[in-house]
Amino acid sequence: MTDGSPARPGFYATTPIYYVNAKPHLGHAYTTIVGDALARWHRLLGDDVHFLTGTDEHGLKIQQAADAAGLAPQQFADSIAPLFADAWQRLDITNDDFIRTTEQRHRIGVQKLLQACYDNGDIELDTYRGLYCVACEAYYVEDDLTDGNCPIHKRPVEQVEEENYFFRLSRYGDRLLKWYADHPGAIVPDYRMNEVIGFIKQGLLDFSISRTSFSWGIPLPWDDKHITYVWFDALANYITAVGYGTNGDQFARRWPVDYHLIGKDIIRFHCVYWPAMLMSAGIEPPKGWAVGGWLLVGGEKMSKTTGNVVNPLDLVDESNPEGVGVDGFRYYVLAETPYGADGDFTYEGLIGRYNTDLANNFGNLLSRVATVVGKKCNGVGPAPSITTDSARELANAASTAVTETIERWRDVQPSRALEATWQLIRATNAYLETNEPWKSEPGPAVDEVMGNALEVLRLVAILASPAVPRTAQAVWERIGLPGRVADQRVPRDTVWGNYPGGLTVVKGDPLFPRRQA
Ligand code: ME8
Ligand code: MG
Repeated sequence: MTDGSPARPGFYATTPIYYVNAKPHLGHAYTTIVGDALARWHRLLGDDVHFLTGTDEHGLKIQQAADAAGLAPQQFADSIAPLFADAWQRLDITNDDFIRTTEQRHRIGVQKLLQACYDNGDIELDTYRGLYCVACEAYYVEDDLTDGNCPIHKRPVEQVEEENYFFRLSRYGDRLLKWYADHPGAIVPDYRMNEVIGFIKQGLLDFSISRTSFSWGIPLPWDDKHITYVWFDALANYITAVGYGTNGDQFARRWPVDYHLIGKDIIRFHCVYWPAMLMSAGIEPPKGWAVGGWLLVGGEKMSKTTGNVVNPLDLVDESNPEGVGVDGFRYYVLAETPYGADGDFTYEGLIGRYNTDLANNFGNLLSRVATVVGKKCNGVGPAPSITTDSARELANAASTAVTETIERWRDVQPSRALEATWQLIRATNAYLETNEPWKSEPGPAVDEVMGNALEVLRLVAILASPAVPRTAQAVWERIGLPGRVADQRVPRDTVWGNYPGGLTVVKGDPLFPRRQA
């Protein structure tokens, strides 16, 4: 670099691009919040982060939804895509870009990708006869079905027969197996890797990448009677959004992606089709995939078809006295379920987490500290110091929390990262109860206890900021620290002892007013 500073490592992460046939719901919010927290964590690490989300707007399913709404498909997509962008803004999602597959940059890149696979001999004309689920936009064989229905949507599949172009996925089985063998840990959690390997070992079938029965999509560059299959189109967003086909420098800088965050429902497309498509085009496969489970509602997958849809925006509405605010909601989805496993969303669970972890543990720690600093230290926060065993233990607990939070984010395990941070919060509440500074006369002993508790609040504000960004900033300000918590760096600013002391500490309103369970 010309200015002599070392290049920052890049970090590129993506969410799925969501179909515009449904409004944003809890399930979409789940994956997007995990991606956002991961992106925020990497910004704390000092990485040059690029976090992408967007909308999937082509294909039969969207055309049908537009028909039902009495709108042209483009008009229909134009009416729904902003609902996603708005929802993400309201949930404090810090995406760096938002791609819509109807954009010109995407069309150019998709056609370039198709042409590259075609030129490499991996796309050929053939006849397809078989079963199709429009809701999945996916082909099935008899064995995949449950009681003759789509295994995901539990509704009938359609018999289709078409002359299509096929991608010769069957040629890529060995190459994919070798690639995965050379890249252990590329898919997290690791049990998902086993699932992918097992699927590849069963033998891969070629898949159709074009349709002639409808027109809503991107035409093949060499045969414009054919429209690109929506999944081939959609997967390409991850490269077209970073300049493939339109900005070679940007593409070289960003690709390969560090993590595709996806739900387990779309693992085959992402972990089998997609790397094969990239290999065919001479592009490097992704570096990683982080596969989440489903957030169920009453034990069922939320979907428009089942009708059990939870709108996250109702839960975060600041004027809703029963809501939990943006941070309360973000914290719940990140902390409640280990990423990878299925979770069950319940209102009781949401309120329970909020009251226990946020109101009683985190909020209460700040309020106690601010109260005692007000009464015993004239409202001025003392610097941390260590002269007692309990202080030494607290500093050790802090350094363990920092190390574990770093490691757990490295494994894309937000619930465990937060657990490590909350362990420190609980240890600090216990430290206060052991020392009972509220019972002591003002003096060096009280100053030590309060300085150490303030130092923990400083650390916790940094460590928890990817999950609860508003609260973290509020805590930062109330303990008198200048600037933005998001500008802190891990691990540089998470070593023990940096709370300077001499700062005004403000109690303020409760961060998390308790909610009625
Ligand atoms: O599949 N629990 O879009 P989609 C957890 N357009 N996550 C859920 C969820 C739930 N109940 N419901 C949805 C598509 N999700 C394609 C993707 S990508 C190139 C194309 C999340 O609108 C989860 O991440 O059906 C899932 O993979 C994604 O939304 C699917 O969203
Ligand atoms: Mg879906």
